[in-house]
Amino acid sequence: MIEFREHSTTIDTILRENFGGYQQQNDPFEKIAVYYLNGIVGLVSYSIIYDRAEINYILVVNKYRRQNIGGKLLNFALKDIFKNKCKTISLEVEEDNIPAIKLYEKYGFIKKAVRDKYYNNKNAILMVKELR
Ligand SMILES: CC(C)(COP(=O)(O)OP(=O)(O)OC[C@H]1O[C@@H](n2cnc3c(N)ncnc32)[C@H](O)[C@@H]1OP(=O)(O)O)[C@@H](O)C(=O)NCCC(=O)NCCS
Repeated sequence: MIEFREHSTTIDTILRENFGGYQQQNDPFEKIAVYYLNGIVGLVSYSIIYDRAEINYILVVNKYRRQNIGGKLLNFALKDIFKNKCKTISLEVEEDNIPAIKLYEKYGFIKKAVRDKYYNNKNAILMVKELR
């Protein structure tokens, strides 16, 4: 089951334990949806800023990976973004994060640019999906 949630200490703990490097932003446009199975096993955070959207992060708890949960969460976000009539969706991902890059490519994101040393010392790839 996928549902919207507000920020909570549970979400912060899941982020810290499974996605150590992520720094929570104070973003007034942010929406969070969680995948719930006797507890939160995945989450997606995205921001709809008028006619464009950003995927902030998508995360599935380690032992639930490769069961299509990340894909379902991304699809849920994409549908909501589409309903809001956005034209462009962008995201940054570490250049060596192959699972995430493959996931985003599967859902139509294209690599557009490299952002040097975006995450501490690591390069990031800017990926974009245009909606028409
Ligand atoms: C990226 C992540 C969210 C994928 O979640 P997931 O539930 O395992 O992904 P799914 O099972 O829905 O896979 C969907 C597609 O993603 C790609 N993918 C997922 N894991 C992959 C892996 N280990 N290697 C290669 N491709 C992978 C595949 O294209 C897959 O489609 P397929 O099953 O038809 O091959 C998960 O690996 C994760 O939480 N990683 C840590 C957090 C992170 O780095 N998030 C992204 C940065 S914002």
